[in-house]
Amino acid sequence: MNSKMFAQGAEAKLYRKNNIAIKDRTKKSYRLPEIDKRLRKSRTKKEAKILEKLYKLNFPAPKLIHCSEDKIDMEFLDGPKLRDVLEKSDYQRRSKEIGKKLAFLHNHDIIHQDLTTSNIIQMKELYFIDFGLSFFSQRIEDKAVDIHLFRQALESKHYTIWKECFKTFLEEYKKHANQSKEILERYGKVASRGRNKQAW
Ligand SMILES: Nc1ncnc2c1ncn2[C@@H]1O[C@H](COP(=O)(O)OP(=O)(O)O)[C@@H](O)[C@H]1O
Ligand SMILES: [Mg+2]
Repeated sequence: MNSKMFAQGAEAKLYRKNNIAIKDRTKKSYRLPEIDKRLRKSRTKKEAKILEKLYKLNFPAPKLIHCSEDKIDMEFLDGPKLRDVLEKSDYQRRSKEIGKKLAFLHNHDIIHQDLTTSNIIQMKELYFIDFGLSFFSQRIEDKAVDIHLFRQALESKHYTIWKECFKTFLEEYKKHANQSKEILERYGKVASRGRNKQAW
């Protein structure tokens, strides 16, 4: 059966074969071959492990079908990237949903680490994808950084609506996340640290 490439991310090429998406982490010639191989292997393994965990938790993410050294076969999600539809959708509702979902992940000590609207697919509900940089952690700091990265993604790609979206997202996150007070306090520090960095 033929498979067709349908997307190329920063890390991988994505092929579709019926209802299966194959994420193939391509070689990066700018990395030393040994390091490149190790990185691709570890990210593939990490992503597969998290997808399995999410399936058990009944969290909306692609179902893992098979995993080899540098390839993951998973359920193909037939919907648009949130990045392409956020402005024309009910973005307050979507932002709320993301807040609740990120809180759920954090309550299970899962840090996404690359939460952007390109890594969310809009189905009947929002599905999170791209867990290659994700990891398990209970640390307040890691959760705060996750929030900060999402804010930066919103700000750069959705600059006309990002403030409203982020506010709604935060309110909902606060409602659902354990230790949300500490996490949001730390987020404030992380954000100001980021601003200082930029200023220099
Ligand atoms: N399971 C999937 N179903 C449908 N589309 C997907 C799926 N996984 C990835 N994609 C598409 O491929 C793109 C790149 O995949 P992603 O996992 O984000 O890789 P990268 O790490 O290279 O960004 C995504 O932005 C999305 O458009
Ligand atoms: Mg991606």
